[in-house]
Amino acid sequence: MKNTATHSFYTLHSNDCSLVLDCSGDLPAICYWGPRLSDATGPEELAVLAAREEAPAREHVEAPIALTPMSASGYLGHPGLLMHRNGVQWNGYSVVLRVDEREHSLVVQSECAGTDVELVHTLSLDPDSNVLKATTTLTNRHDQPLVVDECNAPCIPIPDFCTEILGFAGRWSGEFRLQSQTRSQGSYVRENRSGRTSHDAFPGVITHDSYTSQQSGTAYGFHLGWSGNHRVAVDELADGRVCAQLGELFYPGEMILTEGESYTSPALYATCATQGLNQLSQNYHRYVRSHLTAPMMKQKDKLVHFNSWEAVYFDLSESKLLDLVAAAAEVGAERFVLDDGWFRHRRSDKAGLGDWYVEEKLFPNGLHPLAECIAEHGLEFGLWLEPEMVNPDSDLYRAHPDWALQASPAPNVLARHQLVLDLTNPDVQSYLFERIDALLGEYPVTYIKWDMNRDLHQPGNAQGVVVVHAQTRALYALLERIRKAHPTVEIESCSSGGGRADFGILEHTDRIWTSDSNDALDRLFIQRGFSLFFPAEFMGSHVGPADCHITGRRLTMALRGATAMFGDMGVEANLLEMGDEEKTELAAAIELHKQHRRLIFSGDLVRLNRPDYENAFGIVSANRKEALFSYTLLRSQPHSLPGRLRLAGLDENKTYTLRIIWPDPPTKRPESILSRLEGAKFSGASLMQAGIQLPLIFPESPLVIHLAQA
Ligand code: GLA
Repeated sequence: MKNTATHSFYTLHSNDCSLVLDCSGDLPAICYWGPRLSDATGPEELAVLAAREEAPAREHVEAPIALTPMSASGYLGHPGLLMHRNGVQWNGYSVVLRVDEREHSLVVQSECAGTDVELVHTLSLDPDSNVLKATTTLTNRHDQPLVVDECNAPCIPIPDFCTEILGFAGRWSGEFRLQSQTRSQGSYVRENRSGRTSHDAFPGVITHDSYTSQQSGTAYGFHLGWSGNHRVAVDELADGRVCAQLGELFYPGEMILTEGESYTSPALYATCATQGLNQLSQNYHRYVRSHLTAPMMKQKDKLVHFNSWEAVYFDLSESKLLDLVAAAAEVGAERFVLDDGWFRHRRSDKAGLGDWYVEEKLFPNGLHPLAECIAEHGLEFGLWLEPEMVNPDSDLYRAHPDWALQASPAPNVLARHQLVLDLTNPDVQSYLFERIDALLGEYPVTYIKWDMNRDLHQPGNAQGVVVVHAQTRALYALLERIRKAHPTVEIESCSSGGGRADFGILEHTDRIWTSDSNDALDRLFIQRGFSLFFPAEFMGSHVGPADCHITGRRLTMALRGATAMFGDMGVEANLLEMGDEEKTELAAAIELHKQHRRLIFSGDLVRLNRPDYENAFGIVSANRKEALFSYTLLRSQPHSLPGRLRLAGLDENKTYTLRIIWPDPPTKRPESILSRLEGAKFSGASLMQAGIQLPLIFPESPLVIHLAQA
């Protein structure tokens, strides 16, 4: 087999990044991925710069870090493809056959001679956002089945000076916890076998140099758009080279390709920034806004939600809900979401999942009176569903026990008293589609909160075949079928909070429930981690009750409002028990969000570098004429007076009028320095270089500053 690519090098450019693919050898490999190269730069010179000599006591010719690194080429790092046919033909060795150069993308076709396998790598560099989308497709060209143990998305080399790794950890109600460590020889690996994106191992990683901050320095981001099992790795090889490899994690025997069958890896989304983590997340946000936002969502405002969960839990009654609708409308909510508890047998989380019929005992006339009341108050109607699940105590399970995933003969592992339905079973798909379609047909529902509240501990179907991959694809297919049948219905991805947040699910949904924790202090950090990849309009963020149900912490409405208003805002508290003063303050926070949501949902996010007792960030409009900055004093500060708040992202030559818009009044101290700032004009340079002298405020208090070009 001969390399028949027409050129040795292929280059992609975006506004700020370049990628050079070296096809001069047999295996295609990225020889440059990073900040945009000048027009004076030729790819050959990069290859000369990348050339390495023979290392002592090593092979004569070092194997490349190919798009799919291969053992048969002598690569001793983690291979990009692990496969075999009956224990042989493990030794894929691909040779480039053809490279199709399309606008902003390359499609590289290779063949593995001797193993009858075809590989296609697709690399698309979005010119505007600087996000590279990359996939690997493997096809079996032999009449014998091919067992695929691993087939990763294209492997990306990382410059060795990016010595720091920023990864993600977490738990239920504590998602997106950032975890920093210095790279060392060997591998940084995060594996997820939860069958969903997970709370504890978000499929993303960032590498950066030791000087990188929010506002400056080089950073490389990697994210796998996939809602099933995954493996994220950054490898520092013994020879000193570094690369990132992300892909799906298979159970044994999970991926077997018969003749002519193909497997495509989940897409890797990579980007590079030279101006810190802010630029990195702005790249991702721009990509999500242009490529992963449904056209319908681009045309309308996101609505402020009222959600019934923390207001009433399972203690629902029609009359209580009707009262809540009125109260929700009064504080300015625009959509009423009926959460868990409305369907047959669902008086607690122990029963009913699967029985997607309105509970007649609670709602003798169906949901019609509620829907009518919602419409009369000018709100839209949203409904909670958890279609992938079944309680053993349900009519559905009693009729079809074989519809649940299992690892028979092992006993069923229950979590939240429920099992997972086998979505790869066409009968399950038909049942779920029919039920959801019927509900959407009967009621004027404009939004589904699509929940998924347990891991896939035992992901085998009734035939004993493991189906995490197929289940994930089947979920995507079901969502698409529903979207096609009901194109104006928005869908939120919820999974016990933020357990299913990734770019794969964003192709099929319109909002993410970021976390079950509505504790504003915890939320600031959950939202900070989330914001590295996702823009604010996808970040469901609700004002919870004063006493947080999850942490027991009591927080002011000033803080709860300030935290929720910077996402897709909602309310999740019992308004019937809320005092008038608190409700008035809540209504004011909602009103402020509505006034500024266009900016929040389109502007550039700039997180500010602050000491650990503070949190601050801003959203700046694309034309730099307007901005909002949020500052929170998390706990007592160490000096008798606080320091300066240096803003970022503004136009240094523009003059801005400053207003403190939240809380109202901003502090309890009449002599506060803020009175001198209110309404005053400052240049962008003063605000960014000199900074605002912060006032004395109480710990756990926020300030929201608005800037408009004077
Ligand atoms: C999950 C969700 C919550 C709520 C409950 C209902 O935990 O994350 O927001 O909908 O389920 O059971």
